[in-house]
Amino acid sequence: MRIVDLAALGESFTRDPYPVYARLRAKGPVHRIRMPEGGAEAWLVVGHEAGRAALADPRLTKDWSKASPALPLGSVASGPHMLIADPPEHTRLRRLVSREFTPRRVEELAPRVQKTTDALLDAMLAAPDGRADLVEALSFPLPISVICELLGVPDLDRDSFRTWSNDATGALDPELRRGAAAAMARYIEDLVAAKRRNPGDDLLSGLIHGTDDDGDGLTREELVGMAWLLLVAGHETTVNLISNGVLALLTHPEQLAALRADLSLIDGAVEEMLRYDGPVETPTYRFTTEPLTLAGTPVPGGGELVLVALADADRDPARFPEPDRFDIRRDARGHIAFGHGIHYCLGAPLARLEARVAVRTLLERCPDLALDIHPAAITWRPGLLIRGPLSLPVRFGRQPAGPRRG
Ligand code: HEM
Repeated sequence: MRIVDLAALGESFTRDPYPVYARLRAKGPVHRIRMPEGGAEAWLVVGHEAGRAALADPRLTKDWSKASPALPLGSVASGPHMLIADPPEHTRLRRLVSREFTPRRVEELAPRVQKTTDALLDAMLAAPDGRADLVEALSFPLPISVICELLGVPDLDRDSFRTWSNDATGALDPELRRGAAAAMARYIEDLVAAKRRNPGDDLLSGLIHGTDDDGDGLTREELVGMAWLLLVAGHETTVNLISNGVLALLTHPEQLAALRADLSLIDGAVEEMLRYDGPVETPTYRFTTEPLTLAGTPVPGGGELVLVALADADRDPARFPEPDRFDIRRDARGHIAFGHGIHYCLGAPLARLEARVAVRTLLERCPDLALDIHPAAITWRPGLLIRGPLSLPVRFGRQPAGPRRG
């Protein structure tokens, strides 16, 4: 099969990958590609039906030790965690964290999410020139504050953490990715050790001290892996839901006006933001454990890398009519921006809560919000995993007095 060299497409593909995926989908659901990350070769699954099927296919493993040694990936030194585990390990780890990551804990965070959003917007709106980078002002600090609050690590070194996390998930050079993940793992080991000495009422303390009915608990290594995963997954993604979502609104004035006119549309609007331009372009790596046929295409065994283009699945006209139209009133349910199958996002309720509060409050506080950059000039994060702008300059002009809520 001819190799589609996504690496060669450069910046234009990073900025707008959707037409490229759509052209591939028109030819078939599975393609051999060269990735921008390290030039690795992989099998890319496009389309909604084929994508969902691949995400739930037990013949694909998440275990990096089964990856073909020919792949220039190396291994990510982040301790054992759910997103690189198959059943039964995955089932066990997910059960142990689900006991702590409860709907009640998420609900309890709601006032905190609102308070943090209000404080961040107060600071943003104080800028005398009426301009800000929305990523710096809101999209990044909100999720990181919330995940730190949930885990009980208020003193996180956010600057270092952000650099490591960005590099571990987005750097094109595998060496840089590995180094960043290792540095972050060492830092988290210290965090977990400190928490062990000073436990609280937070999720991390619950994970350290909690056991299930069989007396099973997380090992020291698993705790580091879990904290690593929650911290990275908890902020690398939600940042871009807020940024991509606000960008979609600001580039679709009629949709923005409709939402402003009726803020009770916010829940559906956030689902449409997830569908239209979700934060995860292709989720984490899967590897073949045996020769198999994926959506009619034979794929060899032996640890070949398989990627599922979530970004394309949610723009598939066979699933969503007029998929390239951003429409906050459409029924966007059935999108797979949070994945599908056993690895379905654990943090989806938290991410939805944060995005709803952030976008609604931003619109309430900034009646004149507008983009302060031409959309074509926005620089996007590199790599196939995460999709989002590195910065999002906005203007907010005239401001109403003070926050409207609590
Ligand atoms: C808009 C924000 C988010 C998006 C779009 C998102 C997306 C995803 C996706 C696509 C997966 C599946 C990956 C795969 O199958 O390879 C996933 C898994 C996961 N997500 Fe999220 N996520 C978001 C926010 C969060 C938050 C806030 C947290 C935690 C606080 C979180 C924690 C996790 C965890 C722990 C997993 C692994 C679940 C497992 O392996 O069973 N995510 N997420």
